[in-house]
Amino acid sequence: MGKVPFGVIVASHKGGVGKTTISVNIAVALKLLGYNVLLLDTDFTDPNIGVHLGLEDTDAGLLALAAGKITASRAISVHAPTGLHVLSCELEGSVAIPKLVYAVRLFNILLRSRYDFIVVDTPPGSFPISIFNKFTRLGKMMALIITTPDTTASTAAIKTAMMFDNANVAHELVINMDRKRRYSISPKEIREAYGKKAIAMLPFDESIPMSIGERIPAVLLKSRSGFSRGIIALAKIVAERAKAIADKDSKTGD
Ligand SMILES: Nc1ncnc2c1ncn2[C@@H]1O[C@H](COP(=O)(O)OP(=O)(O)OP(=O)(O)O)[C@@H](O)[C@H]1O
Ligand SMILES: [Mg+2]
Repeated sequence: MGKVPFGVIVASHKGGVGKTTISVNIAVALKLLGYNVLLLDTDFTDPNIGVHLGLEDTDAGLLALAAGKITASRAISVHAPTGLHVLSCELEGSVAIPKLVYAVRLFNILLRSRYDFIVVDTPPGSFPISIFNKFTRLGKMMALIITTPDTTASTAAIKTAMMFDNANVAHELVINMDRKRRYSISPKEIREAYGKKAIAMLPFDESIPMSIGERIPAVLLKSRSGFSRGIIALAKIVAERAKAIADKDSKTGD
């Protein structure tokens, strides 16, 4: 059996706050740091990972895999510029089989894998966290809860935090699209509501829509931008967290 991958679950109850953009860029940043990374799209209703990476034309993704039409190795695409592995979701179709079967399939595939990190983009709203227990275990997973500095998004972030608390999954807050002006809610207020400081603050960046249009992740297209530097710093924090947990496990023999 391969090593147990570290799961990075990118989530928020609020739509449109940057989950997919951050999932893609953090996965690429971890890959650039030298790790084996799988990026997994679980937003079945509005899958976007393929669009960000120019892999949207596939008919061999998560839905075909969940339906048993293809094998895991066929479902995983390789992002040629970086070597990042991607299990994306086809733009058309739906999951017609019970989630359980789908989860078992993921379990079989991913546990055997040799990834250091599995970065998971999730749909807005709540979802069964138990799906992710199939490829890693609770202690080797962290959630990044994405918010923007406005009241409705941060209220949603608190709800998301409760979902992860109930499932005993460690979580950190990321504030995205920070414009440094006219906050309807300040980072201090967000910190007070969430209970701790945000792990990262990513600026609003005009090059993000451009990077999606070009199908080139921002960390590759504009590697020196504030957003990209923030993502790379965040990827390093995540990697340190994963290493600390792995070191602790090896001492306790887990
Ligand atoms: N830091 C940023 N600066 C500027 N634009 C951004 C930034 N982050 C994301 N965006 C833009 O915001 C929009 C929503 O981003 P994205 O699709 O990543 O959000 P999401 O949370 O995944 O949405 P959904 O809930 O619909 O899945 C996109 O058009 C993207 O270009
Ligand atoms: Mg999304």
